[in-house]
Amino acid sequence: MKLTHTKSTLIATSIANLSPSGRAVLSSLKVSSDQEDLGGTFDATVREWEKVDADTLLGLAFLIGDYPVGVVLLKRPPLSPSWVLDGAVSLHGLKIAEDYQGQGLGRIAFGLALDAADTHWPMASKLVLAVDVGNEPALAVYRGYGMQDSGPVFRGRIGFEHRLELQLG
Ligand SMILES: CC(C)(COP(=O)(O)OP(=O)(O)OC[C@H]1O[C@@H](n2cnc3c(N)ncnc32)[C@H](O)[C@@H]1OP(=O)(O)O)[C@@H](O)C(=O)NCCC(=O)NCCS
Repeated sequence: MKLTHTKSTLIATSIANLSPSGRAVLSSLKVSSDQEDLGGTFDATVREWEKVDADTLLGLAFLIGDYPVGVVLLKRPPLSPSWVLDGAVSLHGLKIAEDYQGQGLGRIAFGLALDAADTHWPMASKLVLAVDVGNEPALAVYRGYGMQDSGPVFRGRIGFEHRLELQLG
């Protein structure tokens, strides 16, 4: 999976394809502490991926060359949160390392994640996610791909969240 960025090429690969040192680099990447409150840490996302060995979980690392700069988890029910319907894929913890943000990589990474969801689970009908109402960069990425609210905002883990959805395929 490859998409060209103006300065570089961002590639998505399964976390399983990373070498131990590549996985260690991925875990060590940082977002700001404010962003950690919203989207968690790289280390927590990698540890969550390591904990679950199931075909209902796909962990993607985003690389420039061989160097990891981002991560995301895709889940299918029953691993997805209880509000996710059977035919859907849920997306969790999309992150681009702080030093690489603001260059369009988040937008490209999300496109690669959509492609991966389609390829990995061709029968899935939609992609869904929850995002905090104040998370403007993430909302810009998701809305930019046409994601729409599946209902009213709801009270989530740390405040109000949108539940967004997009048809796959
Ligand atoms: C969300 C995230 C992945 C975006 O990554 P990024 O590489 O900075 O994103 P991009 O450079 O592709 O920018 C995406 C959009 O956000 C917009 N944006 C960036 N910062 C913004 C801000 N502070 N306020 C409003 N919009 C902003 C950009 O203008 C761009 O919109 P456009 O494509 O319409 O111009 C990154 O901010 C991140 O890792 N955040 C922490 C983790 C997180 O919150 N994840 C989401 C969990 S649901």
